[in-house]
Amino acid sequence: MNLKRKDLLGIEELTVEEINLILDTALPMKDIVQRDIKKVPTLRGRSVVNLFYEPSTRTRTSFELAGKFMSADTVNIATSSSSVAKGETLKDTAKTIEVMGADVVVLRHGMPGAARILAETISSHIINAGDGAHEHPTQALLDLFTIREEKGRIAGLTVTLVGDIVHSRVVRSNILALTKLGASVRLVGPPTLMPYGIEDMGVEVYYSLEEALKDSDVVMALRIQKERQQRGLFPSLREYSRLYGLTEEKLSWAKEDCLLMHPGPINRGVELSSPLADGISSLINRQVTNGVAVRMAILFLLIGGGKSDITA
Ligand code: CP
Repeated sequence: MNLKRKDLLGIEELTVEEINLILDTALPMKDIVQRDIKKVPTLRGRSVVNLFYEPSTRTRTSFELAGKFMSADTVNIATSSSSVAKGETLKDTAKTIEVMGADVVVLRHGMPGAARILAETISSHIINAGDGAHEHPTQALLDLFTIREEKGRIAGLTVTLVGDIVHSRVVRSNILALTKLGASVRLVGPPTLMPYGIEDMGVEVYYSLEEALKDSDVVMALRIQKERQQRGLFPSLREYSRLYGLTEEKLSWAKEDCLLMHPGPINRGVELSSPLADGISSLINRQVTNGVAVRMAILFLLIGGGKSDITA
């Protein structure tokens, strides 16, 4: 089994068959993640370099663990203490990593398209771990896996994404992934955080949280990305939270069995109340666990050499 492509740059370029292959491959990977001894020899002798120009806990650590659980050699480059701090360009840094023998470079960068530039520059496989507000494909894949695991399907579900739509690469990748697999997607948030023309992606736009949540099967709250806001796009966090912050009471506007998701990190009390984040409908911790399994599947499908046995 393998992906017939060199790189994983975005959901936009993936076929439904490729998405399903990744989700199906993540199932046995999750069994490995849940074992006492989480180690298989599958990627012995292969190397994975995490090159992160922006902060990360979940994505970087889960790629590192995913590689380690499959016996790959994994390396993290902290750009603040690397030669990037001396002015080295992204391309020169990547070329340096390539000639050291990296099989995969996992890149997070603030510039949309950065992963594509690297993919065209070096022969190592590139995985996009978030490029500006463009795409975060592995997050969307772990979200799909989590929804499918809980609901048994994606097609026919109504999934509502709440909050900072305009700055969110998670939203873009999730819209592309969910609509490809047949879900209906709703977006809700303040008008200032809603990108102009987003309806062209096949979604419904709402400004009333109550209207958007009605009949929703899944609600995904998004982090308010204060670091990407150059000017005040809403009066205050308190005002935002009053209108769009999710609480147990507001979640009751959705279907009774509605699931709650958040890509993390959470601003508690802003996007979500703590009782809701830690409550029974919350899948937030499950998303994180599934992130390791899905990233194992992606590494395996890119550099596993077409093996059919994921444990060999
Ligand atoms: N969801 C996500 O990308 O989290 P990190 O920034 O911690 O990787």
